[in-house]
Amino acid sequence: MNIRQQLDQKITQALQQAGAPASSTAIVKASTRPEFGEYQANGIMAAARQLKINPHELAARVLAQLELTDMADKVEVAGPGFLNIHLSNDWLAAQLTPPAPTPPAPARQQTIVIDYSAPNLAKEMHVGHLRSTIIGDAMARVLEYLGQRVIRQNHVGDWGTQFGMLLAYMADLKAQGLEVSMQLSDLESFYRQAKQHFDTDPAFADRARAQVVKLQGGDTECLQLWREFIEISLAHCQTLYDRLGVTLTRTDVMPESAYNDDLPAVVSDLQRQGLLAENQGAQCAFMDEFRAKDGSITPFIVQKSDGGYLYATTDLAAVRYRARQLAADRVLYVVDMRQSLHFRQLFTLARKAGFADERLSLEHMAFGTMLGEDGRPFKTRAGGAVKLAELLDEAEERALALVNAKSPELPASERHEIARRIGIGAVKYADLSKNRNSDYVFSWDSMLSFEGNTAPYLQYAYARIRSIFRRAQDDGGSRPAAGAAILLQEPAERTLAVKLLQFDEVIDSVAIDGLPNQLCLYLYELAGSFMRFYEACPILKAGVDSAARTSRLQLAAITADTLKTGLGLLGIEVMERM
Ligand code: ARG
Repeated sequence: MNIRQQLDQKITQALQQAGAPASSTAIVKASTRPEFGEYQANGIMAAARQLKINPHELAARVLAQLELTDMADKVEVAGPGFLNIHLSNDWLAAQLTPPAPTPPAPARQQTIVIDYSAPNLAKEMHVGHLRSTIIGDAMARVLEYLGQRVIRQNHVGDWGTQFGMLLAYMADLKAQGLEVSMQLSDLESFYRQAKQHFDTDPAFADRARAQVVKLQGGDTECLQLWREFIEISLAHCQTLYDRLGVTLTRTDVMPESAYNDDLPAVVSDLQRQGLLAENQGAQCAFMDEFRAKDGSITPFIVQKSDGGYLYATTDLAAVRYRARQLAADRVLYVVDMRQSLHFRQLFTLARKAGFADERLSLEHMAFGTMLGEDGRPFKTRAGGAVKLAELLDEAEERALALVNAKSPELPASERHEIARRIGIGAVKYADLSKNRNSDYVFSWDSMLSFEGNTAPYLQYAYARIRSIFRRAQDDGGSRPAAGAAILLQEPAERTLAVKLLQFDEVIDSVAIDGLPNQLCLYLYELAGSFMRFYEACPILKAGVDSAARTSRLQLAAITADTLKTGLGLLGIEVMERM
């Protein structure tokens, strides 16, 4: 249990002993100002209102019941009836250890499916998939760290009419005796060429449509071509995942086509339950929940008039699979906000159909669009989609220029490695540090800055602490043994200690809300608290007595561990020096 939860539990108990209704809770929050202590309980006023008594009187009764002597050295009633809790130095000092999660009790362990990345394989992965990939991966790491059972599902788009065009083009190249895999090494231009043939050559377009029919009919040769294509495309994706340090592997790929055989059953099941109506030949769910003011309903189409299935049908089959086969407690869909209506309709229909019962939490973790510095969707100068591989090349090149300027004395190979970590880290962190619900502006200068809430700033803060230990070693000292006494004498020491102890709270809340930017902000503030501590409380200077020095080294060590763990949960690497 994190500190907030511990206090909440104790104060809620006291509140109830003081006669408050059973539904009342303490509502403990971190305080906004140090003079209010570290935490405050806000729930007393509401309970007093229900009891029709003066909140101050109830607060006094709660105080009389409250046993917090071990944790706090002052609890006071403030304002109209808040409780302010000032944690005790000794208790804080005793709690300080490097971050380590307590695994959930077996009964509280959840199976959490995370649907992320999911590019369409017809084209090369582009920046549009970056946000899902990065945010989804951070969520997977955070939930795994907390001991949850995470199942990654890369719901790649590997089926649909656009493959007809690609397969027809592949077949043409093969007929000319050309080596297709070479051509496919640039998927983007392969797609463009196929599309151009499709748009300008009616005979080719006919062959493309015939390929679609053959593919759906299970034609062996056609399937063979398709597999070859998918294989190359997936290998492209995997190269990018590895380069980005994203934990997805080939075993996490659960493509749209995997659900093909289940689609007729999904539709007939919905039909049997009376959930579908025919509209211009298509099978649709008209759900009241989606009725507009003018009375019309936006239908959820599950089968086209030609009998074909759609994105929605596959997603229905996937919900059912995740609920039944994977036995999920939660499914997180890390997908572009523009698909919000799709997911609301999907979740509503899946519940009505009994594909997902009320215990299964279905959550669309939506994100906004990545914008260029001109405020428009991020594109190349020519207006095309920016290839991820090229974006990462540029990130590393720019980072290398910075490292070369800052640390020319380091060996070249180390400078390259540092630049790689900074460049990749900066791209990921820039995305993670913004609230995913808004659009975000991609800016090289701000993400690579060594100041502000950026990856380089935090990586630098970490390296700086590590350098203190190198110097301590030169002095004959070293990292103090874990458990060495921590003394919180200066205000800056205390502030740093409290911040360190709030790591668990932040992680818990990221796990619930799916907002990794909360963790970024925390790490940024932690680095700031450390810098202020380091200015106010010298460590290696002459005249610092050995008890203070050991204690401060210990605080520095735990800060470094917390930064490293936190950045690790965001998928960002640190380095010993830079
Ligand atoms: N392939 C889709 C796209 O690129 C995203 C799939 C998201 N996951 C899902 N279960 N619908 O837009």
